[in-house]
Amino acid sequence: MLDAQTSPAAPPVIRREDYRPPDWLVPSVALDFKLSAERTRVHARFQVVRNGDHDRPLRLDGDELEPVAVRTDGKARVDWTMDDGALVIALEGDSHWVETEVELNPAANTKLMGLYASSGLLCTQCEAEGFRRITFFPDRPDVLSRYHVRMEADRSAYPVLLSNGDLVGTGELDSGSHWAEWHDPFPKPAYLFALVAGDLHANRDSFVTMSGRKVDLGIWVTERDLPKTAHAMAALKASMRWDEEVYGREYDLGIFNIVAVDDFNFGAMENKGLNIFNSRYILADPDTATDLDYDGILGVVAHEYFHNWSGDRVTCRDWFQLSLKEGFTVFRDQCFSADQGSAAVRRIEDVRMLRASQFQEDAGPLAHPVRPESYIEISNFYTATVYNKGAEVIRVLHTLLGPEKFRAGSDLYFERHDGQAVTCEDFVLAMEDASGIDLSQFRLWYSQAGTPHVKFALSHDPAGCEAVLRLEQSVPDTPGQMNKLPMTIPLRLALFDPETGDCEVERLEILTEQTTEIRFPGLAKRPVISINRGFSAPIIVEGDRSATDLAFLSANDDDPFGRYEAMQQLMLDTLVGTLSNHKVDHAAVVDAVRKTMTNNALDAAFIAEAVLLPSEAFVGDQMLVVDPDAIKTERDSLRHALGSELEALWRAAYSAHAAEPFEYSPQAKGSRRLRNISLGYLAASAAADFAGLAFRQFEAADNMTDRLAALGTLANSDADERVAALDIFYHRYRDNPLVIDKWFTTQALSTRMDTIQAVHELRIHPDFTLHNPNRVRALAGAFSVNQQQFNLGDGSGYRFLADIILELDPINPQTAAKLLPPLGRWRRFDGKRQALMIAELERIVRQSGLSKDVFEQATKSLSRD
Ligand code: PHE
Ligand code: ZN
Repeated sequence: MLDAQTSPAAPPVIRREDYRPPDWLVPSVALDFKLSAERTRVHARFQVVRNGDHDRPLRLDGDELEPVAVRTDGKARVDWTMDDGALVIALEGDSHWVETEVELNPAANTKLMGLYASSGLLCTQCEAEGFRRITFFPDRPDVLSRYHVRMEADRSAYPVLLSNGDLVGTGELDSGSHWAEWHDPFPKPAYLFALVAGDLHANRDSFVTMSGRKVDLGIWVTERDLPKTAHAMAALKASMRWDEEVYGREYDLGIFNIVAVDDFNFGAMENKGLNIFNSRYILADPDTATDLDYDGILGVVAHEYFHNWSGDRVTCRDWFQLSLKEGFTVFRDQCFSADQGSAAVRRIEDVRMLRASQFQEDAGPLAHPVRPESYIEISNFYTATVYNKGAEVIRVLHTLLGPEKFRAGSDLYFERHDGQAVTCEDFVLAMEDASGIDLSQFRLWYSQAGTPHVKFALSHDPAGCEAVLRLEQSVPDTPGQMNKLPMTIPLRLALFDPETGDCEVERLEILTEQTTEIRFPGLAKRPVISINRGFSAPIIVEGDRSATDLAFLSANDDDPFGRYEAMQQLMLDTLVGTLSNHKVDHAAVVDAVRKTMTNNALDAAFIAEAVLLPSEAFVGDQMLVVDPDAIKTERDSLRHALGSELEALWRAAYSAHAAEPFEYSPQAKGSRRLRNISLGYLAASAAADFAGLAFRQFEAADNMTDRLAALGTLANSDADERVAALDIFYHRYRDNPLVIDKWFTTQALSTRMDTIQAVHELRIHPDFTLHNPNRVRALAGAFSVNQQQFNLGDGSGYRFLADIILELDPINPQTAAKLLPPLGRWRRFDGKRQALMIAELERIVRQSGLSKDVFEQATKSLSRD
């Protein structure tokens, strides 16, 4: 089997321990662009300064670039060499002027890294290593430069010319061209450079900062999308205020621009003063965006804005430190979103997401620490571990320090490191210095991969009136990491009196040892324990609480997250129990859901989360060997029981939360969510009228949340209305790519047995294209999380995905590589499925000319350590 480290064809492995400061620094750079879609000229001029005492040549990274001209100190040079795409020049002195010229073809750039064309615009994406596709440069985050950018382009095709910083000049030229110059006073690494040229229109607004400075805000889109930018603008202004209030961080330039583009590999990018967004995280109106989309926009606009400090003003020394900016910034955006709506529901959603993506990653062949030790292709490390576990680690720190000391630590971090490129260690050190708290053991969260397990057992001695809680932690082995040390785990717990429902003890216990014993004196009755409340640590908790205790907590825990957890655990135990011993007993779940549905003290948004069954994938995660068909059958059967036994409650909820004119508020969102979940349960009950109800809702809805929920319910069914609804939906939205993505996804997620045929047909649908990452994810990404259909016993789901990966790889390797991880889950399945998945992975690895991106993911997924 091919091995990532030793195969002769294997690309080099980059290691954290090999870090060395840059040989040459670049204090400032002037870039001059003559822009056009097929032929763009880039002229770069900058001073290089030798860093330290060495005689190494100047090495300027390049990727698919050819030097048209090279000059040093004003004189043409021919004695340069090329090495692995980089331009290497021997230099005598300690400081020289370097000039290069290259020519680019943005229209042919399908990788969407560097300068590329998207729906008539020209735009850039440089993180992590895209700048080297624009010009020869030391493309590493610890080289910080001041940028001066001049752009020249045809005025009619590209009337708007944007870059980082402040606009310092514009003018007209002969023959229909014009120019603009931008200057960014803040030194930044090349990955934060951006430019955009195109026929854009701005939603303009302004913001007055806490010190009274006025900032011009612009959200740039095509003219017809302007009405869809209001929500993003409100989100931006709310984020700017929140960062002042909660972190004391003020915006620092006179302009803040955001541009929406249709073709984008990620969600959005925090380029200094010029954020570039995937249009799905900007554009929204009630007719085309769901509540989830609105929430996503709020979170991503905030995330990118918050990077202005946590990422731009203080950046990463090297890419192993990626979580320094991403983990912290995700934590910041999660707290912001929690403050804007229901904090409890938001926490539930974040944890659900963490378990669905990060826990799976941590348990598989691609597991890596929050601060990785090595990589082949850095793009593969923009992962749930670096982002979401990274955010949980910062949350752990916040819990250990408390809000005041945490804020003092963050103030110290920004003050100490403003304008620098630093490490995760620098961040922890600032927290330690400001708080006086020893964080030595906490640092293991950065270096040890794998999700810690905490086993607990609660015993009670009625004679001695004492309860004893025994806790044991362990961190599983992960590729390349064995025998791990105990970690610092902040565990919030509470004990309840099962008769009165009173909370008798509540505390934050900081685990530091492998085993911990806690005594609770003065308890005459056996208490019920609520543990890891608020999900205080990103761990897996194991204990044997009875169905009675879980039902009690689902009704009485005063921590909403704990209440949700208890319900989930009860549902999981029921499903896993049925799957292992074939005894079907739905009564406890039905009863708990009934109590939740009829509890007037709970709001709709919370009820909706609590009554949802765990996903098929999450049920699979609890099993030794995932049996996708059995999981589907048993989960459907529990859904059917809930649907039919509680039919009256679903009907009541459905009409109590009847559609009202659209409003984006926590209450209205909660109503829609509960109404649509009720509709889903009515469908599961097989009530004769569900398809009629769904179709009426589909037609009458004044918002996408309700319309799409109805469509999804129909798409899973055999109802006659199914085909009609899909057709109506398609024709109504055929000009709106973001909505057509939903049309693809809805069908790819369908629980019908013919979904594999449907996705094959969609693959050759005229609206499918491998050139738009959103569309690829809408079909292939969605299908691969449809557990039962993707894992069909004949391997056809695996083949479908592998075919797309292979076809996409030469076009867009980053996006191709991100589709791969589901195939690496083979260890979790039976022998037959294992063989089928391995065969597809081997077919991928055998492909000649495979990208580093896909090579790394596929070889690691095959490896048997
Ligand atoms: N830095 C971006 C973010 O998290 C993500 C990103 C990475 C975007 C790489 C594009 C390319 O906000
Ligand atoms: Zn980010």
